[in-house]
Amino acid sequence: MEANSLKSNLYGVSAIFSDTKKIAEITHKVAELGYKNYDVHSSFPIHNLPKKMKLKWSPLGYIAFVLGISGAAFGLFLTWWTMSVDYPLIIGGKPWFSFPAFVPVLFELTVLLASVGTAIVMLFIIFKFPNPKHPLHDTEYMKRVSVDGFGIVIEAKDEKFDYEKIRSLFSEFGAEKIFDIYYSPEELNYKPKVFEPKFIVFLIFLVVLTAFIGYFVNNKLFYMPPFDFMLYQFRVNPQEESTLFADGFAMRPPVKGTVARGQSFYQFKGQPEEAAANLINPLLPTEQTLALGQKKFNTFCSPCHGWRGEGDSRLNQQFPNPPSLHTDKVRNWTDGRIYHIITEGQNIMPSYASQLSEEERWAIILYIRALQRSLNAKLEDVQ
Ligand code: HEC
Repeated sequence: MEANSLKSNLYGVSAIFSDTKKIAEITHKVAELGYKNYDVHSSFPIHNLPKKMKLKWSPLGYIAFVLGISGAAFGLFLTWWTMSVDYPLIIGGKPWFSFPAFVPVLFELTVLLASVGTAIVMLFIIFKFPNPKHPLHDTEYMKRVSVDGFGIVIEAKDEKFDYEKIRSLFSEFGAEKIFDIYYSPEELNYKPKVFEPKFIVFLIFLVVLTAFIGYFVNNKLFYMPPFDFMLYQFRVNPQEESTLFADGFAMRPPVKGTVARGQSFYQFKGQPEEAAANLINPLLPTEQTLALGQKKFNTFCSPCHGWRGEGDSRLNQQFPNPPSLHTDKVRNWTDGRIYHIITEGQNIMPSYASQLSEEERWAIILYIRALQRSLNAKLEDVQ
């Protein structure tokens, strides 16, 4: 082989030593001379050798740390987004973002990303998977160090690499055998098999097959007996008749005394005078509360009471016209008295408790007050 081509595909120079003392000495020397790209091989661990090699810490720990933190952050985002934003479900009366319940998810994702992610980084980035080749594979050198020899390789890419110098250094330290290690031409021209058309066609086939199986299972198989047992099981739909309950209704009323979330128990049930005396409007007539009151009044009250509460219903006599909200009676009522009517209804006027939150009811009352004031404006008001 010519000297030139010999150098161009040279991976490095290696040497076999016969005992651990010798390999320790040469390693010490090589590290001292400042070589960086070299490696030592032995079929069993030799104490202190890593220290002698002056090995740097592997960055893998930092990679795992960053991946773990990302896993935790992703877990936090996932639980927050799904449970508080995208599909908030009240579970056991707990707040939407119940951190303790999310800890297992955070933990799992942290561990998952830190472990699997690190393995992937190691395989694909550090070991350059799927390239299965390495110039040391299948060499005489490798065969010796996996049996009874101790070996050292200095790579040609090292800054200090000098072919002759290294060979004489190795023999000086009593090398039993010195091998030059070359890249095989196959390896130099390595092209990953994943880009071969055959493989890509195979992948496409797999994708289509999986898609088809997925489609078939989810859209056909589950509708065929006996796999359709989930589909056809005993259940009742809203508004349906049911033979299970004595009253024949499928829909069940809430348990007596149930208080829905966001609503508090109304303590003046059937007691308008108590409500009038004890309830105080917690809202101030600001632009915002009046705007809210107007919006809700127009939606829920004006169809019967008229836009200005004058009792001019828009329902064309399909529902009895209510009295005006501008009578002295209503004007002299406390806010609590009107609140009671909105909450409980009065005679044929139904309750609006389920349509209007407490705040909205108070805001409507502020708006009714504003209406009352505007129909009874005094000269001083505009002066
Ligand atoms: C479906 C029609 C209808 C709607 C909607 C309606 N009311 Fe009434 N409201 C009535 C009728 C009818 C009466 C008279 C009830 C009676 O005979 O005591 C009445 C009575 C009242 C009274 C007592 C008046 C009085 O002189 O006794 C107040 C106050 C009142 N409504 C406020 C409201 C408010 C506030 C809303 C909106 C949240 C509202 N109503 C929505 C039909 C309605």
